[in-house]
Amino acid sequence: MTETLTLRRPDDWHLHLRDGAVLRAVLPETARHFARAIVMPNLVPPVMTAADARAYRDRILAALPADMSFEPLMTLYLTEDTDPDDVVSAHAEGLVTAVKLYPAGATTNSASGVRDFGRVSGVLERMAEAGVPLCVHGEVTDPDIDIFDREAVFIDRVLDPIRRATPGLRVIMEHVTTADAVDYVTSAARDLGATITTHHLVINRNHILAGGIRPHYYCLPVAKREAHRRALRAAATSGDPRFFLGTDSAPHVDAAKETACGCAGIFTATNTLSILAHVFEEDGALDRLEGFASLHGPAFYGLAPNADTITLKKGAPTACPERIETADGPVTVFDPGFDLHWRVA
Ligand code: NCD
Ligand code: ZN
Repeated sequence: MTETLTLRRPDDWHLHLRDGAVLRAVLPETARHFARAIVMPNLVPPVMTAADARAYRDRILAALPADMSFEPLMTLYLTEDTDPDDVVSAHAEGLVTAVKLYPAGATTNSASGVRDFGRVSGVLERMAEAGVPLCVHGEVTDPDIDIFDREAVFIDRVLDPIRRATPGLRVIMEHVTTADAVDYVTSAARDLGATITTHHLVINRNHILAGGIRPHYYCLPVAKREAHRRALRAAATSGDPRFFLGTDSAPHVDAAKETACGCAGIFTATNTLSILAHVFEEDGALDRLEGFASLHGPAFYGLAPNADTITLKKGAPTACPERIETADGPVTVFDPGFDLHWRVA
């Protein structure tokens, strides 16, 4: 049995770092293990222009403890008013790695997102020409569509039409939660990738709703049925380079989660690698964890993998903090419901 596992240092291809006190508290949780992360732009107000991205990147780097290194890969929040020249020049100078599409109202801080997808077709064409990848929150917002069906419906109504209308656009379908999304990605050409979160490999919708409502398991896209979780596990552990890790670690202070209308978002930065090692070992795929966490993402984005490595060791169950303290209040760390035997050495 493997007791030690050495991987290229991983990256996180979908991460929420927030700002201010929460940024300062959560950034080390990611930087301790990950070299780079695609940083989501859904601040209030959002990171919409190259100037916003530069200022946010500077705040992230200023919040980084002096003894840690970490490269934030910045994204721009797509709106119906996004200036294509600003996007293309910010990408060309290396300031911005990707653009993020939120359907308006789909999730936390998405009010400024896109309502009429026809109004962003010009920007998307310029992005395709210039090789700027598009990260997509793949859920429709139509109130008539059941929340558990919103990802599958998005593929047919929005994503597939966008991809057909914009040949050459590299798209990342983020935090996929359904077998439908896995099938769509697998059947598409290599210009479509997908990120999978840590928590969607572990929980199904029963974890949120059975035996009491558990706000710390609520995120968007919401966890689906067990059959979908199994499809995600199969995709993540398959070795298919189109699937890679994007934790979607999304801190909210407990007061905002444990309330009558709690925020969507699960905070997994602290224990993600221990959980992933457990999951991949359980599925007999420990040798594929490096591809999922460290190799497929950079390859999709056209970047080199990290040069250094991290080592995980397996032993007696290790304690993980239940919450991280921030000056704005505590943030609960995702509880996978099993003991963590793997830890980063
Ligand atoms: C994210 C957040 O809190 O910003 N929440 C979540 O449930 N995943 C937004 C998002 O990625 O949808
Ligand atoms: Zn997210």
